Amino acid sequence: MSYQSLRAVTPKKKSPSLPPTDIIYGRSRAMQEIRHRIPLVAQANAPLVLYGESGTGKDVVAQLVHQHSESASGPFVKVSCPAIPSGLLESELFGYEKGAFTGANSSKPGRVEMANGGTLFLDAVSEIEISLQPKLLQLLQDGCFCRIGGLDERAVQLRLICASTRDLMEEVALGRFREDLYFRVNVLSLRMPALRERVEDIPMLVDYFLQDLNRSFDRHAPPLSPTMIRVFQGYHWPGNIRELENLIKRYVVLGSEEAIMSELRAVHEFPFELEIPEDGSSIALKELTKRAVARLERTVILRVLQAHQWNRKKTAAALKISYRALLYKLKEVGIPPSRGIYALPSINHTIPADREAAMQSTSDQDFSSQPQELPAFDE
Ligand SMILES: Nc1ncnc2c1ncn2[C@@H]1O[C@H](COP(=O)(O)OP(=O)(O)OP(=O)(O)O)[C@@H](O)[C@H]1O
Ligand SMILES: [Mg+2]
Repeated sequence: MSYQSLRAVTPKKKSPSLPPTDIIYGRSRAMQEIRHRIPLVAQANAPLVLYGESGTGKDVVAQLVHQHSESASGPFVKVSCPAIPSGLLESELFGYEKGAFTGANSSKPGRVEMANGGTLFLDAVSEIEISLQPKLLQLLQDGCFCRIGGLDERAVQLRLICASTRDLMEEVALGRFREDLYFRVNVLSLRMPALRERVEDIPMLVDYFLQDLNRSFDRHAPPLSPTMIRVFQGYHWPGNIRELENLIKRYVVLGSEEAIMSELRAVHEFPFELEIPEDGSSIALKELTKRAVARLERTVILRVLQAHQWNRKKTAAALKISYRALLYKLKEVGIPPSRGIYALPSINHTIPADREAAMQSTSDQDFSSQPQELPAFDE
């Protein structure tokens, strides 16, 4: 099916909890890519992983994918893996038969069964214990599972969407995620951009949250000043859209820009957290400064890339460094080589020593160790 015909597919079911489509996608190039890819990914009906920092909209996109998929009329069942105690996750997912364990007074279907004919959304999939992963693997391989205490295999047809703030390949390397399961769940992937990578969308999001929250709280907080918007656009947003939404909520409730300005200014002057050990151990000033400079350099490069629509040749020229040097820098500071769809470590992610060493030793050739699904952006 061509992209054009896929684009014509309109969601069959609109969830009232989602913001309007134009707000969700905004104008930034990163989100236009997501908009472009959602119908393609949705129609493919293969397991999908949504990567991205917390608060970037993985839940929102999971629902959109479901709405665009062939099983849109079926259920959308979310399981927040870390919210369920590990001992209970198996029964929550796969259900149980009467007498399976103490307290199992009746049989109960799990979320997998509830998602039959629709979508199962596993949030924070990396948190599923390794001992439970084979059962998920079997479900993906054969579409079958057994309830706890049950002998009958039950078959289901569902679309699996997983979300992760962690790089699952790295979890595999660390022995926390099965490699065979990784290849089963990671057939398709989308990376949600951090809010700091789509600063051009901030004014629109602010307007939307302001109107929405004024209505919810029955307030009349006026639009934010241009200065405040500029501060917002320079802020690091570790909590992404959720943090922005909460900040606007505070503004609407407290009714004063000052109340939130003071909070942001402090961070704005120093746009990231210093990695000062909290356990009382010491760290050399030289090392601390080196890390701080690296973080600052990352922010600067990211901003210049954004200003040049992620065109790396133009960015290199603007920064008066060679193209090779820019590629090396991007690799060094952990910025994706394009805004394409990658499973990449977040800004706060510590790159394991072995990978870092590998990065240092390669020149400016292809430095993305992650599979790239679709072509990257311009040079
Ligand atoms: N593109 C968007 N436009 C408007 N609001 C959004 C957008 N994306 C997310 N939000 C809002 O931001 C909040 C956080 O979004 P969501 O829960 O989807 O993030 P998440 O990536 O799943 O976070 P977590 O990793 O913590 O689960 C929600 O209130 C959601 O409605
Ligand atoms: Mg979520």
